[in-house]
Amino acid sequence: MEILRANEPLARYLAARRAGEYLAFVPTMGALHDGHGACVAKARAVAKARVLCSIFVNPTQFGPSEDVDRYPRTLDADLAKLDAWGCDAVYVPAVHDLYPEPQHAWVTVDEVAEPLDGRFRPGHFRGVATVVAKLFHLVRADVAVFGQKDAQQALVIRAMVRQLAFPVKLKLARTVRERDGLAMSSRNAYLSPPERTTAVALWRALSAGKAALEAGEREARAVERAAADVVQDAGIDRVDYVELRRAHDLSALERAEGRAILALAAWVGSARLIDNMVFDIQGRRVESDVALFDDDE
Ligand code: PAJ
Repeated sequence: MEILRANEPLARYLAARRAGEYLAFVPTMGALHDGHGACVAKARAVAKARVLCSIFVNPTQFGPSEDVDRYPRTLDADLAKLDAWGCDAVYVPAVHDLYPEPQHAWVTVDEVAEPLDGRFRPGHFRGVATVVAKLFHLVRADVAVFGQKDAQQALVIRAMVRQLAFPVKLKLARTVRERDGLAMSSRNAYLSPPERTTAVALWRALSAGKAALEAGEREARAVERAAADVVQDAGIDRVDYVELRRAHDLSALERAEGRAILALAAWVGSARLIDNMVFDIQGRRVESDVALFDDDE
């Protein structure tokens, strides 16, 4: 695996690519776990593709009181994992490679970036869209892979790609979970052992929402309440949101019908955790854990 620690070596690596060869790209912030591994596996499944990952803790997507300074940085372990997963090259820029001067030009996405995390993390998706736009320009990949764990992020990037005509196809990797259901996240490292036990309530809340839908509940607020009750009963008192929305654009929903996402964000100790489940609801039939959107859609 080639390790490209600045823009110059990245450019040289890309220039040496064979004509006709595909490039599949997986952007990350490091502190890698099997969720990232699923994104790499999805990238490797692209026929005849080389896989390039990036590791960069992007300062512009963190708010002033957020965790950019203590975000886990585990570069040596990350490189070993990427190598084992069969990644061909990794781009590890320094801050000045992506932000050579104070940033005055931003990519902002309206609508889909506004609810849910957009309300609680002002400026977050602007930072994400801007750094992903820069990475897309520098890497010039044919395909990029994102995780459904960060569903709103994936929808924001899809909107950016469509509306600003980025020549890249998007693919989604399903959410990888711990054995007890907790979604894998770099931020799980912040949890103490008792908090780690409590955190599984997020998964149980999504499962309660699923059970309500399967029992025939179609009132969106009632499905949300079924999920929120589980979080509250676990003693988690700082809940940013538990909301059922339309999956394709995150618009508000009164009655559950079609593709819908149950998304939540809550604080367990000092860790802000997010998770979601996507459903396809057709009349009485409920299919759970479906894709947020189809590949290359
Ligand atoms: P990061 O949190 O490191 O995540 C990198 C990619 O891994 C994202 O597409 C995310 O959705 C995916 N991922 C994380 N946990 C996952 C899980 N449990 N199952 C499946 N996929 C998972 O997301 C970011 O970094 C940044 O915002 C980034 C896009 C790199 C821009 O800075």
